[in-house]
Amino acid sequence: MSDTPKGLKKGLTNYGDQGFSLFLRKAFIKGAGYTDDALDRPVIGITNTGSSYNPCHGNMPQLLEAVKRGIMLAGGLPMDFPTISVHESFSAPTSMYLRNLMSMDTEELVRAQPMDAVVLIGGCDKTVPAQLMGAASAGIPAIQLITGSMLTGSHRSERVGACTDCRRYWGKYRADEIDDQEIADVNNQLVASVGTCSVMGTASTMACVAEALGMTVPGGASPPAVTADRIRVAEQTGAQAVELARKGLTIDKILTPAAFENALRVLLAIGGSTNGIVHLTAIAGRMGIDIDLAGLDRLGRETPVLLDLKPSGQHYMEDFHHAGGMATLLRELKPLLRLEALTVTGRTLGEEIERAGEGFKQDVVRPFDRPIYPQGGLAVLRGNLAPGGAIIKQSAADPKLMEHEGRAVVFENSADLAARIDGDDLDVTADDILVLKNIGPKGAPGMPEAGYIPIPRKLARAGVKDIVRVSDGRMSGTAFGTIVLHVTPEAAVGGPLAHVRNGDRIRLSVKQREIALLVSDEELAKRAAENPVVEPTAERGYRKLFLQTVTQADQGVDFDFLRAVKTTGKAPEDR
Ligand code: FES
Repeated sequence: MSDTPKGLKKGLTNYGDQGFSLFLRKAFIKGAGYTDDALDRPVIGITNTGSSYNPCHGNMPQLLEAVKRGIMLAGGLPMDFPTISVHESFSAPTSMYLRNLMSMDTEELVRAQPMDAVVLIGGCDKTVPAQLMGAASAGIPAIQLITGSMLTGSHRSERVGACTDCRRYWGKYRADEIDDQEIADVNNQLVASVGTCSVMGTASTMACVAEALGMTVPGGASPPAVTADRIRVAEQTGAQAVELARKGLTIDKILTPAAFENALRVLLAIGGSTNGIVHLTAIAGRMGIDIDLAGLDRLGRETPVLLDLKPSGQHYMEDFHHAGGMATLLRELKPLLRLEALTVTGRTLGEEIERAGEGFKQDVVRPFDRPIYPQGGLAVLRGNLAPGGAIIKQSAADPKLMEHEGRAVVFENSADLAARIDGDDLDVTADDILVLKNIGPKGAPGMPEAGYIPIPRKLARAGVKDIVRVSDGRMSGTAFGTIVLHVTPEAAVGGPLAHVRNGDRIRLSVKQREIALLVSDEELAKRAAENPVVEPTAERGYRKLFLQTVTQADQGVDFDFLRAVKTTGKAPEDR
């Protein structure tokens, strides 16, 4: 261990003479005014993902200052460096298209530049997964710092926050319940500060999941972006990164099958975003760990939803923080957790729960025997429409529609949907099932969050609030409805979804965990022979790499060459 190069001596640029390489490196960095004393300290890299295009990371300057303070107080040398930053609303065609690019950027810069540990600062949906994927592959000690959630706003005395309320108000506007003035007014209030979406969307989900994985300091998930608590967490994170470097506590000791099982439990108990499954699958894949969908469904049947946050419940992230944050939730979930899993503090998750002390009276995390929903928020569906599986967020679905058979109303792709969904001549009733094809990993490409198919305008005007929807895409964690997602294999690679036609019958049974196309195998084979699917291609660039190597949802939508070479385990493990 003592022979392993440390600090600035790590990963020298190859000039054919190692002594010269170090001499040159020090000469250049001294140009920025560093002393030999500073350069002899443990070097802690910090990913700077600030960007004018990313208001979810708008507190980056304050976070960087606090992380650096923590590192220096603990005797380290902070070195921040820019990486790609991805915001949901500023990424075309979809942020998921860029997640793997960000993970490659993070991995290679962590590997190429000398650092003994890295602080990953992320928040907006795809950033935390990308950073954990990259750091998992780079393999050095790493710690996650979450940027934190935005504050809630107020519209005509009603509390509002992105993005569940964005969708709710847009739905009212589409149904002519509110006018142009009101939709403009509420637009000013939905995002009341910098920070990530204030409900249990993907960003909040991944913040909670990162803490459950043991990748943040205790309490790192919940403080809002603009609070003193968030800044204190940043300082602690910097100091802890120096400890990680000194102990050589590499990321593979944290990201174990036990840690992923804890993360899946938490994902279920918070009513987390369906995207969380895709991201956890991708992160685990980097460690050679398979996420077992059947095992996830088993966990789901025994893990109730305890967190009362929108869109499954009523509160916002800042309320969760006031209720004690993840310590309150983990205390309640303790009998179900793998307490032996190690965290970045060097202590186990069980020890951290003990250190958090007694709980207190609050109404955001429900007790185990009085859950907000009796089973986990997510259920895994199978059937001839989705041989590789599909997902439904049952905690955000209409209970009346979860056992339902209906007539398929089919849209071939997003453009077809946009052209016809609001037409008065669309042949649709509230009992039908809307099917949207070609929004999977290769189809769109990038598996956009278009699975939240809008209620056809003529039904919305008639007061219909939910309808069964099926697609190979994703949906935002802030959305709600009876929506079957991640149908695998996707239509664009010739999955059965490609061959669904208007008028086919589809049966959804969440109780039986089934999504079935009531069409015979022979008929489906005939349709496939008549209309063979041609997979999408691109002539050059990142799009070509993406289309050639992206995997399906059950493999995390990662690039096949980025996954660990060997599979070493699975989560959850067999009992
Ligand atoms: Fe960044 Fe929602 S848009 S977290």
